[in-house]
Amino acid sequence: MNAMTKLSTMMALVYHGPGKKAFEAHAKPTITAPTDAIVKITKTTICGTDLHILKGDLPSCEPGRILGHEGVGVIDSVGSAVTAFKVGDRVLISCVSACGKCEYCRKGMFSHCTTGGWILGNTIDGTQAEFVRTPHADTSLYPIPQGADEEALVMLSDILPTGFECGVLNGKVQPGASVAIVGSGPIGLAALLTAQFYSPGEIIMIDLDDNRLEVAKRFGATKTINSSDGKAVEALMKLTDNRGVDTAIEAVGVPATFELCEQIVAPGGVIANIGVHGVKVDLHLEKLWDRNISITTRLVDTVSTPMLLKVLKAQKIDPKLLITHRFKLADILDAYETFGNAAKTKALKVILEA
Ligand SMILES: NC(=O)c1ccc[n+]([C@@H]2O[C@H](COP(=O)([O-])OP(=O)(O)OC[C@H]3O[C@@H](n4cnc5c(N)ncnc54)[C@H](O)[C@@H]3O)[C@@H](O)[C@H]2O)c1
Ligand SMILES: [Zn+2]
Ligand SMILES: [Zn+2]
Repeated sequence: MNAMTKLSTMMALVYHGPGKKAFEAHAKPTITAPTDAIVKITKTTICGTDLHILKGDLPSCEPGRILGHEGVGVIDSVGSAVTAFKVGDRVLISCVSACGKCEYCRKGMFSHCTTGGWILGNTIDGTQAEFVRTPHADTSLYPIPQGADEEALVMLSDILPTGFECGVLNGKVQPGASVAIVGSGPIGLAALLTAQFYSPGEIIMIDLDDNRLEVAKRFGATKTINSSDGKAVEALMKLTDNRGVDTAIEAVGVPATFELCEQIVAPGGVIANIGVHGVKVDLHLEKLWDRNISITTRLVDTVSTPMLLKVLKAQKIDPKLLITHRFKLADILDAYETFGNAAKTKALKVILEA
């Protein structure tokens, strides 16, 4: 790499502390470890977690950080130890970086990789930029299959594996069984799409937003409940002959929705938490101790990405349904505005094209 390239700049969305962000010139990343790759971003997106960061909810992400942990692109350069990819390869970037060698990686728990995990757009610069440095490239990038739809693939960086692993797999969704998903945002909808791999008998979506519940119906929800009247428990019990659901998936991240899951889980059922919680939640063991239930939590590992790539290739799922808006990367501030006002704009996922 010559000095010119090293000094060159790019445009990136930079977090400048709570409530502050700018799309500005930033030094282009360079290889810092032999296992790194530099990826030229072609498409990226914004996640609800980026909004959490901008609110100041995630102190691990410090001012000066380029945001974003999702995207697809083309390999621009590779470190000397990278063997799986070469310059020009088209790749999917996982939101989780994994060394593949540490104790957690060997268990398939990439989210807790001792030198990786969810670091992109958190503790290292992310994907809402023209270029990104991806650590542990061999085990954190995926080759894009010939002819694959790159917009659809952006949904595989984070939200599909999250909905599937934290919600559907942890929630042990079974054929014929009943599922409730609390939260019909991109993550809840990703859980809804991937729950259908297992042919559950009933999938009940719960949200405050009628538009999102309409979308859920189009995505395969058998029933929907608008919980803004505070009577979601009664409504759900009526729909399930007073049994509750075998799997209750929490996809919001506030106390009210986790407590709702505690109230609607059937004996023997599972509460699978996906939401990022910032405050404590009451656990009603006085009501749950004899109900044989399980509660699971998980940070997405993205271990299911190879499987999801195959499902996408076989056209068994259409994650493009989640994309509601498209912008140029240069218009990312407008994209944030649209994404941040979802109730008004009906935004789910926005695609940013670099
Ligand atoms: N565990 C993980 O690894 C992981 C990964 C990614 C995202 N997340 C988390 O998943 C959660 C969902 O993400 P998202 O992007 O879909 O968020 P989102 O904010 O777009 O969607 C949340 C939905 O919940 C609904 N909602 C809010 N309060 C509600 C209430 N009291 N009752 C019913 N519905 C309510 C909203 O109307 C919205 O449709 C977030 O907490 C996010 O941080 C977790
Ligand atoms: Zn995310
Ligand atoms: Zn590791």
